[in-house]
Amino acid sequence: MFKSIVTELRLIKGVFLKSNKFLKSREDVSFKNLYNFIILRYFYIRPFFRFLVKGKKISGPKKITDDYLQLNLDIETILNDLKSNAGYSKGYNINQNVIDQIIDHYTSDKKNIETDTQLKNFLNDNNLKTENLIKKNDEDFETYIQRIIEMGTHQIRFADKDLDQNSVMSKLIRSEPLIKLAQNYLNSKNISIINEMVISLPTKKNIKIDVLKQSSQTFHRDLVSKNFFKAFVFLSDINNNDGSHVYLEGSHKKNFNDETNKNDLSIEALYKDYKKKEISGKKGDLFFGDTFCLHKGSNPKNNYRLLLILTFFTGTSLQTQNKKNITQINI
Ligand SMILES: [Fe+2]
Repeated sequence: MFKSIVTELRLIKGVFLKSNKFLKSREDVSFKNLYNFIILRYFYIRPFFRFLVKGKKISGPKKITDDYLQLNLDIETILNDLKSNAGYSKGYNINQNVIDQIIDHYTSDKKNIETDTQLKNFLNDNNLKTENLIKKNDEDFETYIQRIIEMGTHQIRFADKDLDQNSVMSKLIRSEPLIKLAQNYLNSKNISIINEMVISLPTKKNIKIDVLKQSSQTFHRDLVSKNFFKAFVFLSDINNNDGSHVYLEGSHKKNFNDETNKNDLSIEALYKDYKKKEISGKKGDLFFGDTFCLHKGSNPKNNYRLLLILTFFTGTSLQTQNKKNITQINI
């Protein structure tokens, strides 16, 4: 009893400190944003509240196919996997030709590159411009990748902020299997989708811990909104411990325990009873995850890693308010 009161007070203190930090970090803080922040940080870090809003029954067919993508989804299985102790659902794939188009879609346009502080510093330090990171018209993909590996950066993030209705990414995001899954899992007809592609590169340099954190290469939880899940598509072959997706199975069913400032070893010790799982696979493989679960991308040691991340969510997302790579779909 006493222990649970102490834990609760510690949590309230944590929410208070984070709210303060949130207020200081933003110029456009409104009462609504602060209210959402507190609701999310205090209630939606608990499985009881998180699972209250998730889809309970499936309307319509349970198996859905998209011929263009050659994607078949068994919606019921995925819903059960995501809501179960597994928290992840894998074993799906997308046509290779579509995958090549997705890679081309992101890497051929300078406006898709996310120039965060880390990338800006890298470009300044090496006297490079954003356009140097784009695949040239006459360049094949392997030549392009080798060229950017030699530049020495460890990660490039892409996002399409102005998605063309006829683009391959629009076809994927709006495909019936994904929309039906989102509609059922999120229990909503208003869905928001964030699109991102990440190229992670092997580097000989030692990467600082804060850079690894920013690159999602240390254990963390995602808290996008009160209801969300992610779809991950491997756009290159991924081996174990070389860019694979690592997660602690079942940790999404455990209350958030302020792991933010803990390193990977401390988190693994804290969650020693939770199985560490690794997802690797072939180019075109697709899997889904409740990324409130503790997870990270393993650092690529020998090969590059290309990953497409689609975040499906409902409600207000605090992290993404200023981002424009969000597609709204009303079914
Ligand atoms: Fe994440």
